[in-house]
Amino acid sequence: MSVITTIEDLQKKAKCRVPKMFYDYVDTGSWTQGTYHDNEAAFERQKLRQRVAVNIDNRSLKTKMIGEDVSMPVALAPVGMTGMQHADGEILSAQAAEEFGVPFTLTTMSICSIEDVAKHTKKPFWFQLYVMRDRGFSESLMQRADDANCSALVLTLDLQVLGQRHKDIKNGLSAPPKPTPAAILNLATKPHWCLGMLKTKRREFGNIVGHVSGVDDMSSLSDWTASQFDPTLDWSSIEWVKKYWKKKLILKGINDVEDAKIAAKIGADAIIVSNHGGRQLDGALASYDILEDIVNAVGDKIEVHMDSGIRSGQDVFKAMAKGAKGTYIGRSYIYGLGAMGKPGVTKSLEIIHRELDLTMGLCGESNIENVGSHNLVR
Ligand code: GLV
Repeated sequence: MSVITTIEDLQKKAKCRVPKMFYDYVDTGSWTQGTYHDNEAAFERQKLRQRVAVNIDNRSLKTKMIGEDVSMPVALAPVGMTGMQHADGEILSAQAAEEFGVPFTLTTMSICSIEDVAKHTKKPFWFQLYVMRDRGFSESLMQRADDANCSALVLTLDLQVLGQRHKDIKNGLSAPPKPTPAAILNLATKPHWCLGMLKTKRREFGNIVGHVSGVDDMSSLSDWTASQFDPTLDWSSIEWVKKYWKKKLILKGINDVEDAKIAAKIGADAIIVSNHGGRQLDGALASYDILEDIVNAVGDKIEVHMDSGIRSGQDVFKAMAKGAKGTYIGRSYIYGLGAMGKPGVTKSLEIIHRELDLTMGLCGESNIENVGSHNLVR
């Protein structure tokens, strides 16, 4: 392939390398995928103010997210089954993030376990929690994250039930893949992926398998979600979480001003403005389109982060200009992982870093912390 200069280049390569069911799992939204596509379109609609003849030497993208130093305000988002995009995917991504100086968030529904990622990294990472009906199991997950030295808990609030994603149902998504004729035929065209998977032992949901009993099918994300995720999760549940988790707490999945106000009162350290990358409520507002209202309502009370639709450093710049203090990428780094493993994750971070740096300079800014609404065309 020719020189890789964009996230789309990595996406094309990932599409060739990764089995269809796992590539599709990432590159999908729920139902009509309207919100999935609008997340990206919302960034595209935003125009930037070009400023000239400003000294833009010595630019800095360094800042802090929840008090932690970051080389740019971009964390790796929790992504289910990362270890099915590439063998040992969570470990490789965490290592790439650590070396780049950005946070890595491990999902509850990972292939590599919390302990395994901790063993193969040096710095604390963040752990994303799905609350299960079995609250005892959720408590043990928090304990395990604490023991593994995770420095923040990212509590997801927008997935008590799974949004319907047609592709996953049609593909029979499971981890590991079930040997149906279609899956076998497709795997036969993915030799790199198969070789990696043959070499690793990590092929199941590592935080779950071996830690719970009495569940019929532990390989299906949709079955697990339907049978185990707690639909009673409400604002009072956050008090329960805080009894077991004493470190930094980030609430993920806020896409409404009223919810943001409640979240800010609860005493978390940050919220993530997110519609789950368009994977949950199709028809929800693009997260970029609600960001400013949420920042105006609660930005002086709680740190506001955002995800959903970020595919470039320009998108990061726009989110920061709207008042976010940090952003998360999911698909953008997962395409890198699927394309090239750990160097691919690093490549995705480099691409975003360069785009952010150049955009900042061409907007006449030298310091990411000074970027603001004055950089946006109204
Ligand atoms: C899980 O977080 C998913 O969006 O599939």
